[in-house]
Amino acid sequence: MRERPAGKIEQSWRRSPSRRAALGSLAGFLLGSPDLFAQQDPFRDHSRVPGLDELLTAFDFEEVAYAKLPRAAYNYTAHGGAGEFTVRRNREAFQWAAIRPKSSAKAAVVDASTEVLGTKMQFPIMAAPSAAHVALHPSKELGSYSGCTAAAGTPMIVSYATSTPFEEIAAAGGGPLWYQLYPREKLEDNRPRLERAQAAGCKAVVVTIDQQAAYYDRSAHDRNLSSRRRRPSVRPGVKPQNPYRFTSTRLWYEWKLFDGLRPMVRTPLLAKGILTPEDALLCIEHGLDGIVVSNHGGRGLDYSPSSLEVLPEIVDAVGGRIPVLIDSGFRRGGDVLKALALGAKAVCLGRVPRWGLASFGAAGVQRALEIVQAELVLAMKQAGCPTLAAADRSLVRLDLP
Ligand SMILES: Cc1cc2nc3c(=O)[nH]c(=O)nc-3n(C[C@H](O)[C@H](O)[C@H](O)COP(=O)(O)O)c2cc1C
Repeated sequence: MRERPAGKIEQSWRRSPSRRAALGSLAGFLLGSPDLFAQQDPFRDHSRVPGLDELLTAFDFEEVAYAKLPRAAYNYTAHGGAGEFTVRRNREAFQWAAIRPKSSAKAAVVDASTEVLGTKMQFPIMAAPSAAHVALHPSKELGSYSGCTAAAGTPMIVSYATSTPFEEIAAAGGGPLWYQLYPREKLEDNRPRLERAQAAGCKAVVVTIDQQAAYYDRSAHDRNLSSRRRRPSVRPGVKPQNPYRFTSTRLWYEWKLFDGLRPMVRTPLLAKGILTPEDALLCIEHGLDGIVVSNHGGRGLDYSPSSLEVLPEIVDAVGGRIPVLIDSGFRRGGDVLKALALGAKAVCLGRVPRWGLASFGAAGVQRALEIVQAELVLAMKQAGCPTLAAADRSLVRLDLP
């Protein structure tokens, strides 16, 4: 009788598989499992999405947000204007500023607390206004507020485009709330919103004046590829939308706007989106109590400078008359320390708390903020700065390209 040819398995037995080969096959089998596949982190193939306790830097939250969000929601948070040069420049700028440690100074105990326009804070860090948290987590702005409050009472600036009414957020109780306004062309149309926010206890009003015309290629691609594609309206009697790329809704902004808004606001009033000393001086001239140096996280004019590189000239022009806040590109405690040393009173974080919310809801916001706070304390210790007052210009060497 002829012997039956050995099958594949018998063949492999003949070669007496090594322990290493057996473990390799088992690993291959597990990696192919649909359960593990579902947890893959798209930023790094063949890894799983880490848990909250495994996230060590603010950047880690972006990867988890990417894994958990629909692509369009992730892109909405990530994108910048046009070629996103300013988005990248916002991060590059931190390479041009070196921290010069005061090696002789002792900073065993660090106090990073401060006060900005009557709002006390344990750390000079705030949550920047950002739109539509509904796209990130079911807890929406309430989750963000609860996370901010848990992170040492971090003040939160509620966006004009909030998906939860300001009153509802304020009613939840917690840390200080500021309100951000995108102004309406008819001056009186701004009054009801400002009244509601002030009645609900907002501690300051921030009027955003950049982003007069915005266009995001990345979002437009998402829209074009989705069923919600936006088409110019052709209904009779309805003003057609601008069919050409940018929205023109805010192209009417003028400085006299602030002369009209000022009497409507009983709290401190700030302008957000300042990038030049000339505009900073106009803010003072028009009665503003503070400014936020910002390029909207690179979401407005592409090729505009990073906010960090223009900070010193703006601080010089303002000359201490009003507090200068800053945002755009801040991710690390060391980033925050550089801006404080160059004269900023506080730093606002835009994408960091959004990634936190998208990743793990309120707990994610809290942890992401706490990481940056802890990094700031560490950087202050290492640099020999026990207090924010000690973080003066001598702490930073700025080498702009
Ligand atoms: C998704 C998203 C939505 C935003 N929405 C607003 C807004 O409604 N109002 C506003 O003044 N700024 C808005 N900003 C800008 C932020 O307040 C802030 O200037 C910017 O995010 C800072 O840069 P960063 O994200 O690098 O920290 C938004 C930013 C992002 C990322």
